[in-house]
Amino acid sequence: DWTMAGYREQAIAQIRAQVGDKQVICGLSGGVDSSVAAILIHEAIGDQLTCVFVDHGLLRKDEAAQVVAMFRDNYNIKLIAADESDLFLGELEGISDPEVKRKTIGRLFIDVFQKYANQIEGAEFLAQGTLYPDVIESVSFSGGPSVTIKSHHNVGGLPEKMGLKLVEPLRELFKDEVRALGRELGLPQSFIGRHPFPGPGLAIRCPGEITREKLEILRNADAVYIDQIRKHGLYDDIWQAFAAILPMRTVGVMGDGRTYDYALALRAVTSVDGMTADYYPYTHEFLGETATRIINEVKGVNRVFYDCTSKPPGTIELE
Ligand code: XMP
Repeated sequence: DWTMAGYREQAIAQIRAQVGDKQVICGLSGGVDSSVAAILIHEAIGDQLTCVFVDHGLLRKDEAAQVVAMFRDNYNIKLIAADESDLFLGELEGISDPEVKRKTIGRLFIDVFQKYANQIEGAEFLAQGTLYPDVIESVSFSGGPSVTIKSHHNVGGLPEKMGLKLVEPLRELFKDEVRALGRELGLPQSFIGRHPFPGPGLAIRCPGEITREKLEILRNADAVYIDQIRKHGLYDDIWQAFAAILPMRTVGVMGDGRTYDYALALRAVTSVDGMTADYYPYTHEFLGETATRIINEVKGVNRVFYDCTSKPPGTIELE
């Protein structure tokens, strides 16, 4: 008879057996997976755990502050919060190829993480919130030949380079199970219910070159979009929703003036595990109202598209 309470007890015992009295480092992304992993490990080994949260400058509006506040206010977990946005955005300048973006972010993430990890005396383990779909999707796609569709930067590389052993207490779980475990661990519902957010962050929602100007527009637009979804009570029916800023400007009219601003794509999908997905069937009223709100409230956007592509053939993210 399998229950989450049982899984929690078993996972805690396993972590203690694996780690002994050694130190563990955990990278916090702000997402549900790494948060649940950190809290579970903290329950198992307390102060032997240190979390590192790197702000790569590609987070959503106010996200870094919210994550830090959530951990500082609710948990007594040792936390290093590092703002490395200048480094990441500087290195990403001029890069538009999706895989080069991912690899650049992955490489910097390893460097930065290593820098902070070196400050933690005697660390022997690295904890990651890797889920079952992360494990299999990085190897094969839909049971087909072994091709990597997208390189997921949170899988592989880091532990070997740092000479650390892995602790991955969520490796056998699907997303809905991680949420159930988070509930079991008392994580606030506002956190548990949050849509997944990719490691490379807004970089892969900004096709083409990434600039601070585009990121600012994207953050503001995404915040209005998510606010609309919440106001209409749709947030929990959707697996993942976000705005992406398209690499083009289009002409519009506003008052008696001509505008020449960015076009935005809105994405929303339903899914069970992120491996396949259907686009979300919003009403025309919702779409029209949302487009109007975004264009009125966000400087720099004058056109809004809705992405009606399911996965496959599309992927959830635009890159
Ligand atoms: P795709 O776009 O591949 O996304 O259909 C499937 C799920 O994975 C997330 N995703 C990522 N997560 N690092 C991550 O941690 C990545 O590089 C990455 N790429 C996609 C995406 O947000 C969706 O939930």
